Amino acid sequence: MCGIFGITGTTEPLGAILAGLESLEYRGYDSAGVAFFDAGSGELRVVRVAELTHSVEKLRSMVADAPAITGAVIGHTRWATHGAPTERNAHPHVDCTGNVAIVHNGIIENHRELAEALLANGHVLASDTDTEVIAHLVEAELAGGQGLREAVRRSMAILRGDFALAIVALVEPDAIVVARRTSPIVIGRTENSGLVASDIAALVGATRELYLLGDDEIAEIRPGSVEACDLAGNPVELRRLEVTWSVADAKKDGYDDFMSKEIHEQPHAIAQTLLGRITGDGETEIEELTIPPAKLASYRRVLFLGCGSSYHAALVGRQSVETWGKIHADADISSEFRYRLSVVGPETLVVAVSQSGETVDSLHAIREARRRGAGVITVSNVVDSVMARESDGVCYTHAGPEIGVASTKCHTAQLALLQVLALHIARARGTIDEAEARVVADGLESAAALVGQAVARAATYMDVARRFATVDDVYFLGRRSGLPIAMEGALKLKELAYVRAEAYPAGEMKHGPISLIKPGVVVLVVATRTGLWEKVMANVEEMRARGATIVAIADDGDDETAGLVDAVLAIPSTLELLTPIVAAVPNQCFAYAIARARGNDVDRPRNLAKVVTVE
Ligand code: F6R
Repeated sequence: MCGIFGITGTTEPLGAILAGLESLEYRGYDSAGVAFFDAGSGELRVVRVAELTHSVEKLRSMVADAPAITGAVIGHTRWATHGAPTERNAHPHVDCTGNVAIVHNGIIENHRELAEALLANGHVLASDTDTEVIAHLVEAELAGGQGLREAVRRSMAILRGDFALAIVALVEPDAIVVARRTSPIVIGRTENSGLVASDIAALVGATRELYLLGDDEIAEIRPGSVEACDLAGNPVELRRLEVTWSVADAKKDGYDDFMSKEIHEQPHAIAQTLLGRITGDGETEIEELTIPPAKLASYRRVLFLGCGSSYHAALVGRQSVETWGKIHADADISSEFRYRLSVVGPETLVVAVSQSGETVDSLHAIREARRRGAGVITVSNVVDSVMARESDGVCYTHAGPEIGVASTKCHTAQLALLQVLALHIARARGTIDEAEARVVADGLESAAALVGQAVARAATYMDVARRFATVDDVYFLGRRSGLPIAMEGALKLKELAYVRAEAYPAGEMKHGPISLIKPGVVVLVVATRTGLWEKVMANVEEMRARGATIVAIADDGDDETAGLVDAVLAIPSTLELLTPIVAAVPNQCFAYAIARARGNDVDRPRNLAKVVTVE
């Protein structure tokens, strides 16, 4: 979490920094700040603010009368980990002299012991953060006569944890020194300037000459030049990044918010993701997946990993691989898998699902899986993401940048791509016959259009949802492929509307949770005809008998289901394993409308950040 932006060599650096931070707010927004050099006095100035969801906006007004600026500028938008979201804990943090400023994304695990040593040496720490120790470590190295890059390199060598850093210092006011371990950093260059940011989207407006900094590498960015070295001080060549996104992709285009824009972009995102993947005769093609079919066929088990919505996509992928690939398949939450002794070895294919490709729980999970000899494929929306680079194979969704914190188009694009991958694995294993493969392929080819039909009903779904705007308790029920749909629906409602929502297998309610059902409780059930409909409806009757209000996601034209429930969110019918792609739309609209009716910011829900780079 947290967004970093830095620039050197421009005449209007503050404007660029603020625009950069605005585009990075999805990574955190509880506080923000900038550090710059006053052209008059030459001094380093720091401006910080903690304004919960509007920190960058407030920062903009605070620096409106800033003096003329010289040299490099760094900025930060924060999602608090160590230390409350207050002005004193906002970044940039400075050293004792006030001549070194640092912005940081990640966690310094050994900050306590480092702080103790620094305090013993007379340093004074002014915040509760883990970050501040780095400013003081660099201060000590500079006092010992090192240049800024060398001071950062030496300091970095004793840091534990995952981090991305950008540092400026009065000794070299034109330079920004950046360093990373695990957390992402993208560097940009133009003829006369140098830039750094936490993601590509923040930089593409300024330059398309972008570079990736590797793990445990340090770069010195100056106007028009970038030089990098590794932790041992050896020079390294930075890898040039292929840019596939444009600035227009990251604008609202007349929508009220990014979430509604992204809901409406789903047909396009799915179509782009599926483009060229299914060939005429129902065969699959995943160009970037360099693992040959024979190798794919050799695995004995497939383990899907992910967090949040990506975990729900993983659950669907698991079912498809098991059904079509006739292979033992599991899905696990990355942060749980990492600390469990599960039986993973060279016979296991791990499919890690992460739209950002940098979620630290998933990153560490794949590292652990590879350490145990498993093959790893990452499904990511970000080309060359950290996880993509650390995998044996990669499959990219082409959803474009997703700015709304709650995943919409990235999630449905993941679902579509996972179905292609499942089909690909099944074909490699020879476990799906031609006729069934063609049915699945045809279904996938119609997925974008069906999602388009669902999106066209967004207003209808939202009208239904607004009837429940004041509800306190919602149960989301489903069976088989309906369960991950229910889980995703509950997550969306929780994170956006702040409503208590629980997803449960419909058949399991009678084993305990049914005691919570009473008048006033809303039950949203996935009741499409492909997914154990009769059994689901029997479970629904049990809820109705105890006074629950029932809302059903049901097939178009299913009057029988409509007659048995209180409200219907109708979707176009498709194959059972493709239903999660289409059913995601009413789920998203349901949560969106209730969140808006309650006055919540749907793009920036409280306490959340889009990219979770801390454990
Ligand atoms: C929910 C949501 C999150 C993410 C999760 C994983 O709407 O967006 O639950 O799905 O944080 O993120 P990625 O996919 O980047 O690994």
